[in-house]
Amino acid sequence: MAGNVHGGWIMKLCDEVAGIAAIRHSGHRVVTAAIDRMNFRSPIFVGELVTLSASVNAAWRTSMEVGVRVEKENVWTGERVHTSTAYLTMVALDAEGQPVTIPSIEPETPDEERRAREAQLRRDNRLIEREQITAERGGTADSMF
Ligand SMILES: CC(C)(COP(=O)(O)OP(=O)(O)OC[C@H]1O[C@@H](n2cnc3c(N)ncnc32)[C@H](O)[C@@H]1OP(=O)(O)O)[C@@H](O)C(=O)NCCC(=O)NCCS
Repeated sequence: MAGNVHGGWIMKLCDEVAGIAAIRHSGHRVVTAAIDRMNFRSPIFVGELVTLSASVNAAWRTSMEVGVRVEKENVWTGERVHTSTAYLTMVALDAEGQPVTIPSIEPETPDEERRAREAQLRRDNRLIEREQITAERGGTADSMF
């Protein structure tokens, strides 16, 4: 109603570019296992130019974390603003649709090292949270994690 671009549309774009980055890294088709985090720092309005960039921050056995940065640009003034960051876990699948081992990542730059450390922290925290909630529920595992 106020001219904002719907957040769900931005999420869809994030999912798409994360999928492309994950396919490029793994060489396989991929599925989104989880959107681990998505923030909206600043609104995007209809008519603004949106640019998304994605990086595979860490790769484990069959899954990888992809970070997506969303920027908006006012095409009249050239002003660019960082509007969102999203972290998605993508899983590579073989031809039978089973998770398949993917190449590891060797960070080379300080930025890549930081992204890999933070991705590992998010994965560790997710697994700790799963253990805590499983214990809280009396040992019943939940597939939502
Ligand atoms: C993602 C999926 C393939 C995992 O299958 P699974 O039987 O749990 O497979 P595994 O237990 O071998 O786990 C495979 C990897 O997925 C990861 N994973 C599974 N569920 C996860 C979740 N909810 N969040 C994050 N990672 C998850 C595991 O940690 C594992 O990673 P690793 O091999 O790097 O350690 C399966 O749950 C699935 O197909 N989900 C539906 C995906 C989908 O439809 N997405 C939307 C459209 S693309």
